[in-house]
Amino acid sequence: MTIVEAVRWSAAGDALDIIDQRRLPAELVRRELRSLDDVCDAILTLSVRGAPAIGIAGAIGLVVALQSHAGATREEFLTAVSRMSTRIAALRPTAVNLPWAMERMRNVARCTAGDGHAVLDALRREATAILDEDRAMCRRIGENGLAFIGQGARVLTHCNAGALATGGIGTALAPVYLAAERGRDIHVFADETRPLLQGSRLTAWELLQAGIRVTVLADSMAASLMRERMVDLVIVGADRIAANGDAANKIGTYPLALAARHHGIPFFVAAPWSTVDVSTRSGNDIVIEHRHADELRAGFGSVTAPANVNVYNPAFDITPADLITAIITDRGVHIPPFAFVGDGHLAATQE
Ligand code: MRU
Repeated sequence: MTIVEAVRWSAAGDALDIIDQRRLPAELVRRELRSLDDVCDAILTLSVRGAPAIGIAGAIGLVVALQSHAGATREEFLTAVSRMSTRIAALRPTAVNLPWAMERMRNVARCTAGDGHAVLDALRREATAILDEDRAMCRRIGENGLAFIGQGARVLTHCNAGALATGGIGTALAPVYLAAERGRDIHVFADETRPLLQGSRLTAWELLQAGIRVTVLADSMAASLMRERMVDLVIVGADRIAANGDAANKIGTYPLALAARHHGIPFFVAAPWSTVDVSTRSGNDIVIEHRHADELRAGFGSVTAPANVNVYNPAFDITPADLITAIITDRGVHIPPFAFVGDGHLAATQE
């Protein structure tokens, strides 16, 4: 099975190596990024995207951008770490993984003795750890969710929460990959995911690479598909999960959860533990990123609305916890009522 690597170190270890996801599915182009501006631009323009992948890209990107500062004094180097990590953390406000990864990197920098070279080495090890841990978390999410993806399962997903969104085999798609690996015949329905089409461009592409059956539909068709009894379960990723289980994910997730509830279809959220933000009490406290109006007015270079029309373009929505059947993380399957009260302390958790 071919599973793509969306984000990694370059072979020489001196650059952030990404698949440029803006070019998919037309062409598979890898890019090596070495400057802070290039890393920030790649995250902002969604060349690299998906909550875990942008956390990893931010961490590796910070290291590569700091390479030219290694000869500076310790003081100057730490100032550069602070300035660059603050800029990276603010690029996309909804996904917790970006500030989470930057906080990890800042802590390591603060706690490492020595000059710029010593701190840079420690940061390189930390960025590698963030990547390696994400790979392992994806696999554990897959194992924890595997029981829900039986032989012949028809799975509806939204956006892309697969390998392209992580350092490993994805979150929502991880159980799908493991089920397929075990010889189960799985059929994935991929919502197109307006307006940037992560479902039709990315999820469809990566599942085809892996030889998994996939059918694309426009977002507005999902409820009808459920009504036709063609969906056994819905599984999506998350950008941030609040302490009460409310989950932020790609815009269009919330209506899917509503439709699934109406039709009695289980609705799962799959995410690494790093996406659970216990300091955010509920979905009301999650900042939703609003993106440029031209994503709707000039989608993919075409004129898709009048150039001067007002546009409403939130990139994410909040699915209330009471619409979620279970949250699958690398730590287990968490069932309602959710009460994420602190690291490793969960109410209502089957582990
Ligand atoms: O704007 P994007 O493409 O970064 O949004 C991505 C999503 O909403 C994903 O579903 C989420 O990050 C989970 S990825 C494992």
